[in-house]
Amino acid sequence: MCGIVAYIGEQEAYPIILKGLKRLEYRGYDSAGVALLNGNINLYKKKGKVSKLEEFAHDKELKATVGIGHTRWATHGPPNDENAHPHLSGDEFYAIIHNGIIENYDALKKELTKRGHQFKSDTDTEVLIHLIEDIRKAEDCDMVEAVRIALNEVIGAYAIVILDKTNPDRLIAARNSSPLVVGIGDGEFFVASDATPIVEYTKNVVYLEDGEIAVLEKGKDIKISTIKNQAVTPYIQELEMNLEAIEKGGYEHFMLKEIYEQPTSIRNSMLGRLNPRTGLITMGGIEEYESKFLNAKRIIFVACGTSWHSALVGEYMIEDLARIPVEVEYASEFRYRNPIIDENDIVIAISQSGETADTLAALKLAKEKGAMIYGICNVVGSSIARETDAGSYTHAGPEIGVASTKAFTAQITILALIALTLANKKGSISKSRYTNLVNQLNNVPNLVETVLKINDKVKYISELYKDARNFLYLGRGYNFPVALEGALKLKEISYIHAEGYPAAEMKHGPIALIDEEMPVVAIATRKGSYDKVVSNIQEVKARNGKIIAIVTEGDETVKEMADHVIEIPETEEFLDPLISVIPLQLLSYHIAVMRGCNVDQPRNLAKSVTVE
Ligand code: G6P
Repeated sequence: MCGIVAYIGEQEAYPIILKGLKRLEYRGYDSAGVALLNGNINLYKKKGKVSKLEEFAHDKELKATVGIGHTRWATHGPPNDENAHPHLSGDEFYAIIHNGIIENYDALKKELTKRGHQFKSDTDTEVLIHLIEDIRKAEDCDMVEAVRIALNEVIGAYAIVILDKTNPDRLIAARNSSPLVVGIGDGEFFVASDATPIVEYTKNVVYLEDGEIAVLEKGKDIKISTIKNQAVTPYIQELEMNLEAIEKGGYEHFMLKEIYEQPTSIRNSMLGRLNPRTGLITMGGIEEYESKFLNAKRIIFVACGTSWHSALVGEYMIEDLARIPVEVEYASEFRYRNPIIDENDIVIAISQSGETADTLAALKLAKEKGAMIYGICNVVGSSIARETDAGSYTHAGPEIGVASTKAFTAQITILALIALTLANKKGSISKSRYTNLVNQLNNVPNLVETVLKINDKVKYISELYKDARNFLYLGRGYNFPVALEGALKLKEISYIHAEGYPAAEMKHGPIALIDEEMPVVAIATRKGSYDKVVSNIQEVKARNGKIIAIVTEGDETVKEMADHVIEIPETEEFLDPLISVIPLQLLSYHIAVMRGCNVDQPRNLAKSVTVE
């Protein structure tokens, strides 16, 4: 987490950095700061969001054509002005911004303290810049060399940019396990944690690889080398992102915009893969490793958060349609429990950001153990996308709201495409069923458009329940992961305690919580275990719980028992999650807005979790 931005060139650096930090706030928003170099280093840091920094800095000296900025998600030390980045070296010649964690900072700090260094903050980052300063003095070497030596001494994850008062025309950037993109303009450079602060200035970017150091000198070409001092030829790529995709476009919040983008993001995720004319699906990554997939002993999904929920949907789909055994693992558990994996396994990581530290580590472990590794990521060029043998991008476009919405449905779309491709190749479903299911999948964006029209009704229900203290979400089969996702959405952004449960498990615990105060969201579409969910609804009603039911259009049975029904269009059972999740996203959105919560940046959360 944490977002970093830097600029060096002929333009005013501060407005570029400030705008960039606002774009990166999804990565952390407990404090922010900038260091601007104009003869001296002017350092401004403030606890709170980037807007607090902006208020604080507006009457200060902001003139500079070189600068670095940071928005923080605290790891070492509480959020306060002092712990905010940038951090200065002891002699105040150098300033650093850092995203990641220096794991051996404590030992380094003790050593440096013995040598007379004094620290102003509790951060690991300040230790790193002091270490660099110390090496530069001790070795009497150039700054790039000092950075290289220091990075060989540190253990941990970092994306850093260093500003040097003694060499005002040069920034030094480096990465290991935390993302860093360099935008290449005309004699100028932009550096950021992702491409969103860069896209409006240049489309030419270099994604730094782990263990690389970039030297960015005003008016010169980018120079890259490794921390082992090997020169690297920069691979300059063209960004495909456009500016509109990262702006609110008239919506009050990014989350609402992203909910409404789902017909398009689902369509885009199928584009070039599902051919509606021939009724065939082509998935590049799957074709490339076809025999591996068809002979796989099992598929293991590793993911976190919302992506873990879509993995559960993927498990149901692939086992149901393609008849390949599937397991779903929390990446954080998988990586530390000595799992049994071999070359006959396929490990699929699902990650919107492609940067989640636990998911990345789980993937690396699976690779070491010989499994083929596949990625389903949204962010192009992200660490997970680059680590995998093959993969499929979700094409949802940038997701900025911290609570994931369109990335979830795009992931499920990709999983549906994979399940159908494998089922067709294995012959585990008939040709006619395959064709029928492909057509139904192709129609999903239209159904999502229809279901979005129920927004006003969901808003009305939200008003009635916005003050509830607990919520229970129930679903079965394909809708069980949707119940988990509905509960997660609500707790993430409205801070109401919510639990998702497989409906039948209710009687083994949560039923004890039910009384007239307890709203229960029951997903009871007319497929699969419909009758059983109806019985669960009756059990809730018998205990005076309030039922908000998600039902298939025209359902009369549930209407008679539920307090509220939200009707959604009928589709094939395996595609239900793509439709049934929409009202749950809207419900959590409206409740959070009505409770005055910060929907796009909920407290304590960050969108890209690059720490364990
Ligand atoms: C964070 C985000 C969630 C996301 C999870 C996994 O917790 O707030 O929205 O689902 O990380 O992120 P990933 O980028 O790997 O999908």
